[in-house]
Amino acid sequence: MKIRDITGLPITSYDIIGDIAIVYIPDQYIDRSVDIAKAIMQVHKRIRSVFRKNPVEGEYRVRKLELIYGDPNTETITRENGIVLKLDVDRVFYSPRMSNDRLIISKSVRDGENVFVPFAGIGPYAILIAKRCQTCRVVGVEKNHVAVEYFRENVNINRVKNVEVLEGDVLDFVDLYPNWADRVIMPLPKDSYAYLRELSKVGRDKSIFHVYLFVNSSDPMGDGRAKIEQNIDYRFEILGMRRLRGYSKSIDEYVFDIQIYKKLLS
Ligand SMILES: C[S@@+](CC[C@H](N)C(=O)[O-])C[C@H]1O[C@@H](n2cnc3c(N)ncnc32)[C@H](O)[C@@H]1O
Repeated sequence: MKIRDITGLPITSYDIIGDIAIVYIPDQYIDRSVDIAKAIMQVHKRIRSVFRKNPVEGEYRVRKLELIYGDPNTETITRENGIVLKLDVDRVFYSPRMSNDRLIISKSVRDGENVFVPFAGIGPYAILIAKRCQTCRVVGVEKNHVAVEYFRENVNINRVKNVEVLEGDVLDFVDLYPNWADRVIMPLPKDSYAYLRELSKVGRDKSIFHVYLFVNSSDPMGDGRAKIEQNIDYRFEILGMRRLRGYSKSIDEYVFDIQIYKKLLS
């Protein structure tokens, strides 16, 4: 049974995070919000609350949520790719839609790598990689204090010993990790490119950077390449790119996997 079959409305965009559902309801259907929430709870029996989704905003990329129906508690526990994540959906950023990309990236990590995750949030990349690669060292940096608290708790819940959690602006940690990382993961599509020049100092020669970007959907490769080129002083090669989602009519989110070369060509 689908929400559309129960309500008769074209509602298809919702996320399930633990026992919470977060649904996008266009303005014209707002007066049917409670019916939509009840339909979601009928289809997904574990759901105890349904919230209405607003766009993410601010430097912590948090969504303001409105309770439509059920328990107002916004803390929950979810699972993805075999790890457990505790979070408050109203106070931190977390998107289950990125879980497949996290798995793809974690599968490309090799034994013994040093992995740097700025914009680490509650730890989904850092913890998954640390769990899958016990010989890797993972450092995650996050600015939102609430997210950092959950990140630390999630490290303990998942019993990973090879993750270091750092709180603060990632730019304040760059000088502590010069030429340290084999891999840098930058999941901040709104302005990751603005951090590239500084963060490239953390990567070693031939390190891999996964750069999340909003790009023009009519020329994602050209737009992505230009954004990277203008913000990095090293030679680089684009190894691959993946489309993650449509963001607006003309903008899509992509992740670019790039390799940077620090040694001069002889
Ligand atoms: C789009 S979210 C991604 C969170 C997480 N990686 C995930 O996928 O669930 C970006 C995160 O970067 C954090 N952030 C933004 N600017 C930052 C900065 N300069 N230094 C450290 N963290 C920052 C935000 O608070 C937010 O949690």
